[in-house]
Amino acid sequence: MSIVANEPVPRPGILDIAAYVPGKEHAPGVARVFKLSSNETPLGASPKAIEAFRQSAGHLELYPDGQALALREAIAGVHGLNAANIMCGNGSDELLGLICHVYLGAGDEAIITQHGFLVYKIQIMGAGAKAIEVPEKDYTVDVDAILAAVTEKTKLVFIANPGNPTGTYVPVADIRRLHAGLPKNVILVLDAAYAEYVRKSDYEAGIELVSSNKNVVMCRTFSKVYGLAALRIGWMYGPANILDALNRIRGPFNMNAPAIAAGSAAIRDQEFVGEAIEHNVLWMDKLVHAFEAIGLKVTPSVTNFVLIHFPEIDGKRASDADAFLTSRGYILRAVKGYGLPNALRMTVGSEEANRGVIETLGEFMGRN
Ligand SMILES: Cc1ncc(COP(=O)(O)O)c(C=O)c1O
Repeated sequence: MSIVANEPVPRPGILDIAAYVPGKEHAPGVARVFKLSSNETPLGASPKAIEAFRQSAGHLELYPDGQALALREAIAGVHGLNAANIMCGNGSDELLGLICHVYLGAGDEAIITQHGFLVYKIQIMGAGAKAIEVPEKDYTVDVDAILAAVTEKTKLVFIANPGNPTGTYVPVADIRRLHAGLPKNVILVLDAAYAEYVRKSDYEAGIELVSSNKNVVMCRTFSKVYGLAALRIGWMYGPANILDALNRIRGPFNMNAPAIAAGSAAIRDQEFVGEAIEHNVLWMDKLVHAFEAIGLKVTPSVTNFVLIHFPEIDGKRASDADAFLTSRGYILRAVKGYGLPNALRMTVGSEEANRGVIETLGEFMGRN
């Protein structure tokens, strides 16, 4: 007779997963807090999205549309896509999980990069597969390192483009080269959570590559530039073969009605998005110059956040800076878990928050 455990036992590998730790929200004992740790927009959501959210409160007794058709059509309209190739998720996190659970199993491998978004590894391991981490170059995804790591066991390749927490990007020519080098049964997942912020002519989020291939998907989110992180709205643009497979295990009502309503209104309000981007461009430039002027190094960023590197000398390490900033109410993101123990990631905040961080870090660096 086999021995029965005296409590339920998770599948092998589940207890090896380090659970995701979100950005800090509180600064104990500080009255006024500026949360700059989760890449949320300082401008909030479009008033039109907020109004649509309020309207939806009148019908909370009804199940939402399980196909989220209104939202998919709104996204399709703005991006010039076919709504049939769009799937919405409870945050893009859900979609990243679905793709792992559909395409990975025991014995499979999925490739991630050195400073890649931590959710990939969690979902790969959650599906019982192995995450193969490859090095980045200058905090940037290295296409050749990925191609060198592909084996017969590889089923998925995850790239955040632009990267989080690095803020760097891979030009479209390199993404095409990467795709061309992958076997046809390997899916390239292009996670373009910060695509709206990128102002580079050699960047593409992935729409064209998805449109012309059966093994590429692009994930996007409403949590950043659209200011709807609380509602959890992500979307995937993908070929019919992949969306059909994902749809089979997707929760039948994974998108809630207020999210569908607010998301549809938000994406139609591109004027609001334009304002958010303008604010970001202005302050990214000011922040980078100010940090460099006080002797800090920053990784050039195309997103709404910036990776700040601290000098090893004088004991002025990132963790000291983190504590000092927090004591003043400025909450940045420690990125030790991303293999960056001596850096902090700062989201571009409101004018008041940005000025406060500049002044506080200046004080920390002893130059004020
Ligand atoms: C690279 C990347 N992908 C995905 C996400 C998750 O987005 P969502 O809020 O849509 O789940 C984030 C959020 O921080 C991110 O940085």
